[in-house]
Amino acid sequence: MRDLLAAVTALRERLGEIPQADERRLQDLKTEILGRKAGALTQILGALPDLTPADRKAVGAAANVLKRDFAAAFAARERELARAAAPGAGGGADPTMPGRAAWRGGLHLVTQVVDEICDIFRELGFTRAVGPEAETEWYNFGALNFPKDHPAIDAQDSFYLGEGVLLRTHTSPVQVRTMERFPPPIRVVSPGQCYRRDPFDPSHSPVFEQIEGLVVDEGVSFVDLKATLGAFARRFFGPETATRFSPSYFPFTEPSADMQVSCSVCRGAGCPTCKQTGWMEILGSGMVHPAVLEHCRLDPERYTGFAFGMGPHRIAMVRHGIPDIRLFFESDVRFLSQFTSGAP
Ligand code: PHE
Repeated sequence: MRDLLAAVTALRERLGEIPQADERRLQDLKTEILGRKAGALTQILGALPDLTPADRKAVGAAANVLKRDFAAAFAARERELARAAAPGAGGGADPTMPGRAAWRGGLHLVTQVVDEICDIFRELGFTRAVGPEAETEWYNFGALNFPKDHPAIDAQDSFYLGEGVLLRTHTSPVQVRTMERFPPPIRVVSPGQCYRRDPFDPSHSPVFEQIEGLVVDEGVSFVDLKATLGAFARRFFGPETATRFSPSYFPFTEPSADMQVSCSVCRGAGCPTCKQTGWMEILGSGMVHPAVLEHCRLDPERYTGFAFGMGPHRIAMVRHGIPDIRLFFESDVRFLSQFTSGAP
């Protein structure tokens, strides 16, 4: 019994060898001490049944503690060796790791389109105007000649913030604010966010961008409207782009016209983007209604003007053949980075 206790104590000293052992030595030590037949500790434990119950208890307890300590020491050393063997260990660089690219921000495609459109109009002599996103019913509807019972005025269709105050449903109120503040000649474009109670679907979003345009001067005619918007379309979609106008209706323009451009994807041959028609509608326009001029204290006998409104989301979609407007709002870098040079 004394010999067995001494053997346990002697074995305990061997624990100190483990942290220094290399992989080979570690295996040897494991066999030597815990080996299933000849292991030193195994043999001690195997001798326990021959002892008296009291001795068995003393030696057994000491041996079991030692066994646990060895198992822990072996495991710790094995982990250490594995870590040292892993690539990149020891502070050295691991040439097999994929590189970490530096992420650079880029402008959202819709922002790029807005800037590009505004730049084209700047070259045509327009300046940029801005207006508030929270508007009164008067600027959003009344001054723009909407009849009192127009469905858009209903809270069902527009986001109201309070009595008579709402998130603007289009950028046209900026027309009124501009005419109130500046005397003709006026040539402005006004980009900004608009809001309507439309649920998200492939072609609608409750928040969307619009660019308003307004020209007011003496002697402005429908010919100026057609020529200006035609010039814009050729600069934006390419010099061979054809345009056509079809009658439309807006309360604040008379006459009103929607402009279509020959499909920039198929060049008029017919494709899914233009729904096989060869044409894509990109904006609404018209001659400023005399009632709107009067609301802004401009004499309609002296001044005439034209206005237009377009949706940069839609324009980006038709230019790039993007099928679903929701892609612009999901902030998925895999989609957005196709249109920026900044991201990897
Ligand atoms: N504001 C109109 C809309 O939201 C677009 C438009 C602007 C039409 C200017 C004519 C003139 O649809």
